[in-house]
Amino acid sequence: MEYSINTKKSKRLFKRAQKVLPGGVSHNLRFSSPYPIYIKEAYGGKFRDADGNEFIDYWDGHSGLILGHNPPEIVKALRRAVPKGTHWGLVNKNEVELAELVCEIVPCAEMVRFCCSGTEATMYAVRLARGFTGKKVILKAQGGWHGSNHDLSVAVTPPYDMEESMGLLPDITRYTKAFPVNDLDAVRKLVDENRNDFAGIIIEPVVTSGGGVACKPEFLQGLREITRETGAVLIFDEVITGFRLAPGGGQEYFGITPDLCTMGKNLCAGMPIGAVAGRRDIMELASPQHSSVKNERVFMGGGTYSANPLSMIAGKIALTIYRDRKDEIYPVLERRAARLRKGIEEAMGDCGINAMAQGISSLFIVLFPYEKGIQLTSTLDVFTKTDMFKNMEFQFRMLNHGIYLVHGGGCLCTEHSDADIDQTIEATAEVAKEMV
Ligand SMILES: Cc1ncc(COP(=O)(O)O)c(C=O)c1O
Repeated sequence: MEYSINTKKSKRLFKRAQKVLPGGVSHNLRFSSPYPIYIKEAYGGKFRDADGNEFIDYWDGHSGLILGHNPPEIVKALRRAVPKGTHWGLVNKNEVELAELVCEIVPCAEMVRFCCSGTEATMYAVRLARGFTGKKVILKAQGGWHGSNHDLSVAVTPPYDMEESMGLLPDITRYTKAFPVNDLDAVRKLVDENRNDFAGIIIEPVVTSGGGVACKPEFLQGLREITRETGAVLIFDEVITGFRLAPGGGQEYFGITPDLCTMGKNLCAGMPIGAVAGRRDIMELASPQHSSVKNERVFMGGGTYSANPLSMIAGKIALTIYRDRKDEIYPVLERRAARLRKGIEEAMGDCGINAMAQGISSLFIVLFPYEKGIQLTSTLDVFTKTDMFKNMEFQFRMLNHGIYLVHGGGCLCTEHSDADIDQTIEATAEVAKEMV
């Protein structure tokens, strides 16, 4: 498809949007140049835009739709639930049952607090770590994106040297410090430098926003040992990896149990959600029964919409599906994603283009290294050793062939068929010819 010819309605909508929404969008990642395509409806692993074009959707609703758009079991239950109330703001049975399921499925989870977004979840997790240890310094990975909360809005984009926004305290880096992924020596150095004030480490098992660099198991194990030795809190940010790498998330996939984890997205299969879960002794600090003295408890409000009945119902069904159909869902996703990654690399290679489709499990991102055969083990490697302009060009050209990617990649859902994978590889072969 020729973008400007076939997306005229999107172009018109974006013109209107720019007048009333900063940048024309409600999430920065939804902006793309020259203008984004406007979605009209979605089904399974696909969506249709305002102009009637159909796309294979590898964005998966910010990666939160491992069961695809509108899983029938969830749609049916929500239809029944909506007339009974879309927002109660009161404790409810579904909230208890979903928390019980999380505690059954997620290895570190002894207790859960539901909130409304991943951003809130990571904010609360950091607060818990500081409250529990009585210390201030949090270590995070360079390139790690944990939502837009203040404490962690540092060292997300290269060269990782300052806060990510105006309006944040300029000395945020005094208490949030970043290390290169998979570099245990760098972590140990930071721990030594901050030994008396070291509260915890937050890390995604796969640094999804930093080029999809997966943590090495021995690196995660090293973080586990360092935090245990020092009494600091290890937090896995599983907002993306939770329920995606395995029902129990990255901690199940890698076999390493953190003290706390954050979740969102796939926890409620497309309904708004965030959650913090973990060790009882840490989580109990958030209990309103713990203490009435402000500085003896950790305030975790939860939010007006926390434990929203519709999200809780969707979550219960989703987690039951992940648990009960584990052997059916995860190996198939893994196999299809591996075939996709290989097919993309080969299609590019056939045209003499050095492409690397990075990713584990159902995740993938297509990168264009300057040199053949190199390893990308840190997020800085991704930005210094690969051509990010080509990655963007690839993404845009794929759009013209009906494939929707973000950051030149995305993730698979159960609704992506083998035929979709074939179609994506064929589209890549066409795009490769265009890119030579
Ligand atoms: C790893 C990670 N943590 C936290 C967040 C923030 O979640 P939310 O967008 O629900 O606030 C995101 C969002 O993409 C994320 O990828």
